[in-house]
This record gives sequence, structure tokens and C-alpha cells, in this order.
Amino acid sequence: MNFTAKIHAKDLVSSGYPVLVVPAFEDAGFPSELKDLDKSWRGLLQSAYRNDVQKDDGALYIVPTPLGKGIRRVAFVGMGKYEECNLDTLRRGAGTASGKLRKIDVGRVVFLLEPFVPMDEDFESAGKALIEGARLGAYYFDRFKSEKDTHELIGAELHLPRAMGAKAKALVPMLDEVLTVTTSTILARDWENTPANFATPTHLAQLARDIAKEAGLSIKILEAKECEKLGMGAFLGVARGSIEPPKFIVLDYKPRKFSKTFAFVGKAVTFDSGGISLKPGLDMHIMKGDMGGGMAVLATMRAVGILKPDGIRVLGIVPACENMPSGTAQKPGDVVSTQSGKSIEVLNTDAEGRLILADGLEYARREYRPTAMMDVATLTGACVIALGEEIAGFWTDDEAMSDAIIKAGAETGEPVWRMPLHKSYERYLKSDFADTSNIGKKEGGAVSAALFLNKFVGETPWMHLDIAGPFWSPENKAYIPKGSTGYGPRLLVNFLKNWIGSVDQG
Ligand code: BES
Ligand code: MN
Ligand code: ZN
Repeated sequence: MNFTAKIHAKDLVSSGYPVLVVPAFEDAGFPSELKDLDKSWRGLLQSAYRNDVQKDDGALYIVPTPLGKGIRRVAFVGMGKYEECNLDTLRRGAGTASGKLRKIDVGRVVFLLEPFVPMDEDFESAGKALIEGARLGAYYFDRFKSEKDTHELIGAELHLPRAMGAKAKALVPMLDEVLTVTTSTILARDWENTPANFATPTHLAQLARDIAKEAGLSIKILEAKECEKLGMGAFLGVARGSIEPPKFIVLDYKPRKFSKTFAFVGKAVTFDSGGISLKPGLDMHIMKGDMGGGMAVLATMRAVGILKPDGIRVLGIVPACENMPSGTAQKPGDVVSTQSGKSIEVLNTDAEGRLILADGLEYARREYRPTAMMDVATLTGACVIALGEEIAGFWTDDEAMSDAIIKAGAETGEPVWRMPLHKSYERYLKSDFADTSNIGKKEGGAVSAALFLNKFVGETPWMHLDIAGPFWSPENKAYIPKGSTGYGPRLLVNFLKNWIGSVDQG
């Protein structure tokens, strides 16, 4: 977990880097920044670049030094067309490089920053993307393997020429931020990959305490009894099928002065079997990651506590429980009451996320009167059908939040797409026996889930973010591993920044 990020402004030829990572674009020539190094390497780099280096996305070509001293190797990473290159191309290139170079024990990777900078970007955002991609691309999860992965990447660094010392200095604060946010991403990956017999609500509560301590946040953990007193019947209804006690986690970042409050509410179902409305067995194991929304919120709170934004209070509210079938489990047709007083007919016990969020959102509203709030959840398979495995759907009537999340998605490479809060479908949620049913129709299932949640937010500006697609990857990609992707913290930290900016102006 120890990882360092640095920036150097010095002479390249005498730098002694274990590896210098250089972009190879299809539509750009040999990088001029390498000329002197290449001279000392007797033209080896240029001839490799011309004849052997593949320049398409995902390629890596390593040239070892012919000298036996100085820079040990140069790695050309294929980047496709410079004209089409953006920050996510950089993350992918850096991830490809670090993932492969980690395995040959280079220790740390150094990027030749200048030729990487895309057309419309500056050094800071390019450098940030490279370090982010390098760190996230070096991720592996071997907690449960007896044979440990011994190849460790311990750092990612940026190289600028000596003459750019001032520029290099200006980039230093960015390095801390990248480390903070990538550590949070990795934390989310680790916990979502951890199976449900090791990641219970009780463990999650302990994790939240550790985060509170590390990041200087206040914490409150409500036990089942207190939740009962508060009337959280929907949350407790989901939890009652499991022998694991539920935990209602609240993390609070509260600076001395603040003029607005933002609340995140994250779904943390540490295992979703479906309950009595049992899921089919195929791929059920992935439901160990059904706390992806809760982890995104906990990991974001960790970053917020460390980065300490001004003038804003931020809450992370995470109802955590298991959804299990048993003799004590809730049954289809059961009616539960929420903290808001509204009753819900549970027509399908597998639509449990929205139940625990209903109590979570109501608690956020009542207890903290937030300026705005957002729930984050692996909520519906229907959202995965609609948008696929890389894109999260969001629903809101609030333009400021909508703008802030779209901008964040573009900046972090965690894409989001706005979905309709189509009020007409509310009719599908009608119940014959309670104020609302917990399911709508199969068609537009992600929309009815959002409309259900909408019933519990009152007048508070609100957004619902369904991350059921992107929280998990079925394949290894450049900087996204198979399994949990750690989707969320990077997006949400960036979202908060954008949102603070926009409400400050307006
Ligand atoms: N956790 C699931 C949604 C999910 C599915 C997340 C696949 C990630 C990947 C959620 O609790 C669920 O089971 N939703 C049901 C709702 C339905 C019963 C209305 C679904 O999507 O099938
Ligand atoms: Mn479910
Ligand atoms: Zn679920």
C-alpha cells in the first residue's frame, strides 16, 4: 500500500531511472526530448522507434540500456493517435506500462511528461492522469492466495527537464491529491473483492472507524436497536434474514465554518442473495460486491477528510446489512414502515437496495438538512442492460448536480449518463396494501427504482447514481482489473469540487 509519487526536474541522461516510460504515437515522430539520451545510447532508441515499436493502444516495447549504467531501460508505450489522445488514453497507457513493468520488478516507473501532454490539456492534468493510471494499473489482490504476488510497484514519477524546475514545483500539491484519491480507490477495490464471509457489516463498521481515525472525521454507528427506535423498518426488514447484525454508519466531515452541507448515502449490502426472492446461482458470487455504493461513499469520505475542502460539511451515510433467505427473513408481500412514516409493500425481497436507501435518505434529510444529497448504489440489473458495464446512470431534477457529475465523469474517465425521472411510471409502483410497492415493471426497471427513491427525498435537491454496471469488470483492462473496479471515489471527489464551485457562484 505504500506508494510514492514524485516529480523530478533534472538532467535526463545522468538520471539513473530504473525505467523511463515514453509515449509512442502513431501520428507523431520520435520524441525530441529523447535526442540527447539517444545520442548516448548510440541511436538505439531512434532505430527501435522507427522499426520495432508498436504504437497502437496497449502495446509496450522495452529497450534495455546498451551502456550498463545510467537509465536502465526505456519503455515505449503505444498510445494510438496523438490527435485523439485524451486524459483517459494517458491513464490507459500508464496502466499498461505499470502493469507490465511491475512484473519485471522495476520498482518505480518514471514518465517523460512533456510528450505525453494531450493537445487540449495542461501538464498538471496530464501528470495526474499518468500517476493515477500507473498506480491503479499496478493493482492486484492476493489476500486469499497462499502464493503471494511478490512484484511490487512502489512509486510513479514524472520527469521534466532541469530548466522546468518552477513548473515541476507547481505540480507537487497535485501529487498528494492523486495519492489520496487512488488510495481510496484501492480501498474500495479491496473491500469489494473481499468475500462476504470476511466483509460483514460489522467489519465494514470497523473499517469506517479506522477511516474516521485516519482522516479526522466524526463517526456514529447505529446498532439495530437504535435503528428500530428511529423507525427504520425498511432497513431492518432487509437485515432480518441474516445472522449478521446490521450497522448504520455515519461519517461526518465538519469544518469549523461551512455554508452548505452535502450528504452521500451509499448502499452497502455486503451480500445480496436476493433473500426469499432468491437470485439464480449463476454469478451470484459477484453480489459480494453489492456494497459498492457504500464503499464508494466511505472511500470518498476518507479522501474528503484528508483533502479538507473549505466551507462545506460532507456526510457519508452507509446502511450496511446482508440480504439473506432464512426463517426470519422478510417475505414477499410483507409490509414495512420507514422512518419517513411511508409504508412499503415488499413485493420482491431482491429489490432490497432501495429499501435500505429509503431509510438512509430520510435519515440524511431529517438529521442534517443537507443543501443537496446523492445516493450511490449497485441498484439494478436493468441499469446494466441499459448502459452496459462501463457507464453509471444518474437521475436528478437538479441541473447544478447534473452538470457537476457529467464534468466529473469526463475528467476522471468514469463515465455517467443522465436518465429520465419519468414521473408517469410512478403508476407502476402502486401497491394495493401499502403506500408504495418496492418494485415497478421489468421494463424501465432502473427508472422505477429511481422513482421509488424519489418518494423519500422530499424537497431536498437529490441525485441517484446507479453504479451496478461499472463497479465490476468482467475483464482486465489497462488500469481496471478484473473484479471490483473501485468505481466512485475519483468521480465523487471531483463531483464535489465541481458542485462546490457551482453553488458558490450561483
Ligand atoms: N444488487 C442488485 C442489482 C445488481 C445486479 C447489481 C447486477 C449489480 C449487478 C439489486 O439488489 C437487485 O437485485 N435488483 C433487482 C431488482 C428487481 C428485483 C426489481 C434486479 O435488478 O434484478
Ligand atoms: Mn437485490
Ligand atoms: Zn442488491
